[in-house]
Amino acid sequence: MVSGHDCAADVPMTETAFAVAGVYKTYPGASHPALAGVSLDILKNEFFTLLGPSGCGKTTLLRMIAGFEHPDQGSIELDGVVMGHTPPNHRPVNTVFQSYALFPHMSVAQNIGFALEMQGRPRDAIRARVAEMIRLLRLEGLGDRRPTQLSGGQQQRVALGRALAPEPKVLLLDEPLSALDLKLRKEMQVELKRLQLATGITFVFVTHDQEEALRMSDRIAVMSNGKVMQVGRSADIYERPANLFVAEFIGDANFLPAICVERNGAGGRFRLSCAADDVHIAVNDANGLAAGAKATLVVRPERVKLVPPEPGLLRGEVPETIYSGSDLMLHARLTDGTLLRARLSGAVDATALLGGSTGFAIAGEAVRVFAA
Ligand SMILES: Nc1ncnc2c1ncn2[C@@H]1O[C@H](COP(=O)(O)OP(=O)(O)OP(=O)(O)O)[C@@H](O)[C@H]1O
Ligand SMILES: [Mg+2]
Repeated sequence: MVSGHDCAADVPMTETAFAVAGVYKTYPGASHPALAGVSLDILKNEFFTLLGPSGCGKTTLLRMIAGFEHPDQGSIELDGVVMGHTPPNHRPVNTVFQSYALFPHMSVAQNIGFALEMQGRPRDAIRARVAEMIRLLRLEGLGDRRPTQLSGGQQQRVALGRALAPEPKVLLLDEPLSALDLKLRKEMQVELKRLQLATGITFVFVTHDQEEALRMSDRIAVMSNGKVMQVGRSADIYERPANLFVAEFIGDANFLPAICVERNGAGGRFRLSCAADDVHIAVNDANGLAAGAKATLVVRPERVKLVPPEPGLLRGEVPETIYSGSDLMLHARLTDGTLLRARLSGAVDATALLGGSTGFAIAGEAVRVFAA
């Protein structure tokens, strides 16, 4: 084991670390609130991600948890205690900001040990803890270097070490990987996840990169315009988006116009408006839409199957295919001009598909229904 802490795998993620309740925040002079009624619980030992487009309020919420901002309304509880105006240094929370701002005149070891020095911990204890951090973050042999003598990824790891050394209960990370190139970024994603599992510390991670969020998180809060659109595990968010915003923001999706023609328990039958003849799809969850209501059916490209053209199925021409190594994305033009995308995996002969007309099958369980 790389650390003296409990392994997160041994700790059930059921206890609440943070309870954010009805938080509103409007910056002075701003016309729109940065946070417009945010409520969510972050559990102990979980890797929790705030995900959303630029300006949606992620940093504001993170800074509020850290104590650098305060809600206009609502509250933030840590371990059942309302934080109110408790200053950042009195919260058991450490933050890694996007610009990690290491102390340039200090060595790697001094940077990592800084908070421990401030706390007045004994020299031996500091030395041992710094050595543990250096091992955990794979910075062996670099302890005496200055930040300017390190690569970007190494500096990033020193910033993490500095934040982790005083054993915070919670680590807040604001886009900590955004400055790294793709390869380093992927390495650090694995590293961060390993670190979180090894230490059992609660991570609150901010990113606008949905792939990064899906890959790393136990749970994700998808935010838009100061509001939380959905909180769930990666697979829930991807497979069962709560609304059209989440469906569009996370992964690729087809949005097909349809009419509800029949309800049947919680399910229903929908006629696709983008097909020349009657194409019907039966779903188990009609999302409460009444017969006659206009709907948007959301289908992931990998759930669209290529079949021989037949009456009752979607049909389209294939003007374009995009090869990406592991799969082939096929762009099809349906009869009414709607674009349908299908992701085909394995060896597919793209040239045989191009220019031709083909049929597409979509299973009811692959479809999510939303009001249009
Ligand atoms: N100090 C400030 N004063 C006024 N408005 C601010 C301030 N900080 C942020 N805002 C505004 O509040 C909103 C939310 O900003 P925030 O920084 O929380 O977004 P974000 O989701 O972190 O975005 P990004 O992905 O670009 O970092 C934005 O509209 C932003 O312009
Ligand atoms: Mg931000």
